[in-house]
Amino acid sequence: MKENATEQFDILSSLASGFKKKRIIDLFKSDPNRMDTFSIETAGLHLDASKQLLDNTVYAQLTKFAVKMGVPKAIENMFRGGIVNPTENRAALHVALRSSKSADPWIPKDLVSDVQNVLSKIENFVDGIVNGRLRSSVGVSITDILMIGVGGSNLGPKLVCKALRETKSTHLRVKFLDHLDGREFDKLKNLLKPESTLCVIASKSFTTSETLQNAAIVEKWMNSSLKDNKLTKSQFIAITADEGKALSYGIPKGNIFRIWDWVGGRYSVWSAMGLPIALKFGFAAFKEFLAGAELMDDHFRSAPIDRNMPIMLGMLGVWNVNFLGAHSYAVIPYEERLRELPSYLQQLEMESNGKRVGSNNTPIDYDSAPVTWGALGTDAQHSFCQLLHQGTRFVPVDFIISLTPPKEYVTNHDVLLANCIAQAKALMIGGNSGDTNLYPYKEIIGNRPSSIISMEVLDMRTLGALIALYEHKTYVQSVIWKINPFDQWGVNLGKEFATSILTDLSEGNSADQHDPSTEEQIRRYKNLRNNS
Ligand code: F6P
Repeated sequence: MKENATEQFDILSSLASGFKKKRIIDLFKSDPNRMDTFSIETAGLHLDASKQLLDNTVYAQLTKFAVKMGVPKAIENMFRGGIVNPTENRAALHVALRSSKSADPWIPKDLVSDVQNVLSKIENFVDGIVNGRLRSSVGVSITDILMIGVGGSNLGPKLVCKALRETKSTHLRVKFLDHLDGREFDKLKNLLKPESTLCVIASKSFTTSETLQNAAIVEKWMNSSLKDNKLTKSQFIAITADEGKALSYGIPKGNIFRIWDWVGGRYSVWSAMGLPIALKFGFAAFKEFLAGAELMDDHFRSAPIDRNMPIMLGMLGVWNVNFLGAHSYAVIPYEERLRELPSYLQQLEMESNGKRVGSNNTPIDYDSAPVTWGALGTDAQHSFCQLLHQGTRFVPVDFIISLTPPKEYVTNHDVLLANCIAQAKALMIGGNSGDTNLYPYKEIIGNRPSSIISMEVLDMRTLGALIALYEHKTYVQSVIWKINPFDQWGVNLGKEFATSILTDLSEGNSADQHDPSTEEQIRRYKNLRNNS
């Protein structure tokens, strides 16, 4: 990490050792402009990072470090379609999916028209389904959408559909089938009718075993009612980069929505993977979502490095991990509608930057992605916040809030936000109730950093901007850590082992030699399954 920027790295290291003794609250006293320096407002979001453990000198060095490590060049390279995913020899152009600037000279014309064509196809399809022009294979209106997919082919649309459920929507109900435990579908199928359910197989690769297995049980359920597999298949649509596989599966060509290899799974909610969002809220709302992300893209690409929200968030993460020693960070939304956000960010950040070999093909000798974790506030206060306040671990926090209370529950919102703001304050200043005997047990040392990201309203635009903010933060960090954030080779080995273990579970003759513990797990399961 340091070779391009040894000077800044060394300065930051020595500043960090001095900083362990400084109190954040004192930094407010010594710098009257601190709130302004560490706050940025853009795209409907406000970042208040003033409660982080740093001062102007550190921040100036962090931004210099970012420049020396090539962050500005890397941003431009990504927007221009450079090969930012070298192990797969690909660009990562999720930003092109939400760009309204068709004249961007760097993006190939055919790519722009491909994106527009798919958007038009989504628009027509949504219009047809919502207006009843497109009907089910037995001629009735579609009432429900069943989205079958995992990871990037599930978490984004699920997050948005759940977060914005109060937004004006179409008559369509959207359900997500992502877990392999058959009980999941068992629960869902009671809410669905085969004649009026549109099934979406969402899989970029069209090879993901969990998705295909779930598609198979859904197909069986549809067949038993529709009695004709052709009718069943015409109620299936596919969102995939492999049209050939979807066709071989029997999905009619017109029902296939294309994505491209230059869209990473965890960056794909802006592509046809967002179809459930458009079906649930209408195409115009989906465009709003894209527009919110584009606002963040424009800011990321053009704002000065020290006033750039994703760069600030990314570099604060680097400071906390690589200089102050944090191993994890928590995301705590005080906003029930953002319940799915921690899971979404886990995939985004840990699948992107949870790596130990740098882009130059050599193992790195510094920490890369911390563990991202979190849950809703105030629930978190009654489960893990004890550790945040008094544990031996140093865990920075991102709090996320929306400032507009639901009309009928203003007082609840007052209590909710009071709790969030109080948590951030308590983490920073600490305290003790003064009882001498119990003093050490009660003492909260404080000086634990946190940021608050707030939005006036949580809507399509601000949610688009929020997701884009974290995407870009992840990219900034990947540049500092010299990691390719757009591949995920680490997930493959488990998939290979699962294939051979499945053979052993069904036929018992895989070529693999297992270790004794694995053998025993297979034996115990088979024994119980075969005798029950
Ligand atoms: O977990 C690995 C992964 O490949 C993710 O990167 C991806 O989002 C998910 O599986 C689903 O993949 P697909 O869309 O190809 O089914």
